[in-house]
Amino acid sequence: MITQIKRINPKVPESEVIEQAAAVINAGRLVAFPTETVYGLGADALNEAAVKKIFAAKERPFHDPIIVHIADAADLPRLANPVPQIAYNLAAAFWPGPLTLILPRTSLVPDVITAGGPTVAVRCPAHPVAQALIAAAGTPIGAPSANRFSRTSPTTAQHVYEDLRGRVDIILDGGSTPVGVESTVLDLTREPPLVLRPGGVPLEALRAILGDGLWVMGNGAEVEGYKAEGALPSPGMMDRHYAPRTPLWLFDGPDTLVRPAMLEARRKALVAGQRVALMAAAEDEPFFPAEQLYIVGSLTNLEGAAQNLFRTMRAIDRAGIDLILCRNFPAVGLGAAIRDRLRRAAEKQLTITNY
Ligand code: TXA
Ligand code: MG
Repeated sequence: MITQIKRINPKVPESEVIEQAAAVINAGRLVAFPTETVYGLGADALNEAAVKKIFAAKERPFHDPIIVHIADAADLPRLANPVPQIAYNLAAAFWPGPLTLILPRTSLVPDVITAGGPTVAVRCPAHPVAQALIAAAGTPIGAPSANRFSRTSPTTAQHVYEDLRGRVDIILDGGSTPVGVESTVLDLTREPPLVLRPGGVPLEALRAILGDGLWVMGNGAEVEGYKAEGALPSPGMMDRHYAPRTPLWLFDGPDTLVRPAMLEARRKALVAGQRVALMAAAEDEPFFPAEQLYIVGSLTNLEGAAQNLFRTMRAIDRAGIDLILCRNFPAVGLGAAIRDRLRRAAEKQLTITNY
């Protein structure tokens, strides 16, 4: 298969390009497209054979279910039943946007989407290209992130091409995705609701609607109100799922301890003949050597850091580095998603304290 890359205006998508891509979806083939979070690898969610092509292209195991994307919250009852009032409240607050809701499925949803399970993940993306594509196709679009299984999610069309060249019919190139980390996945089939993956909608924003009765999976020690006991992980939530190819060590603790610890680890690795990159914040720049220094963003602009996170990991992968030494980011706002992805990416986590 020859992969075509089609440029598209991310704000006002050209209708000829959308029509062409929608025809590919309707023909049961694959289209990679930008969402506000990351690029998705889309197929007609109601066409089982088409959805199977997603798994083949990504080399993704069939036990990992796929998010169904809709253009309008009004389509939710076709896919999910019953839809609790809280789902409508959340949709009113966050859709279109980076929130995925897990709900009981209807029989319209093919087994291959849900991995045979009783629930379906639904999201209404805010990106104009995603919106236009779903509307033009006239069918919900099943789409995981458009990366090869176990690589970081793509935030540019080039990332998609790197991973999926020859495996996808069209890549719609709408430039960099604005959020940069995947959607927040919220399981509403449990009481209280459970965040399976922190993402583009901050936990604080969810709490403003749901109150404090919110559980968070995974790196919840960082998150107020965390209780994960007895919680079932989402199948795709295994660790090492969002990893760069290069081993990454993650440093957590006060800046005044983390910086010297990273410098010392760098010194030792250099002595051992390794090529080392530092992944850091803008605030670290005065303290670190400029060579192989990758600035993710500022500690006071975590939206910006989230936007750059995966792009930075891919850039380091391309640079032929043996070891990434990375600082952690604060657990507020999009920091929860950044910390979650870094934790999964880390081969080793070091918490630096002075006692
Ligand atoms: O921002 C995003 O969510 C992007 C864009 C393309 O929409 N999509 C994305 O999809 O990140 P994916 O497949 O890479 O991650 C979706 C996660 C997976 O970990 C999957 O296991 C989980 O959501 N998931 C999907 N359906 C589920 C279900 N019914 N129950 C529990 N987890 C589910
Ligand atoms: Mg993914």
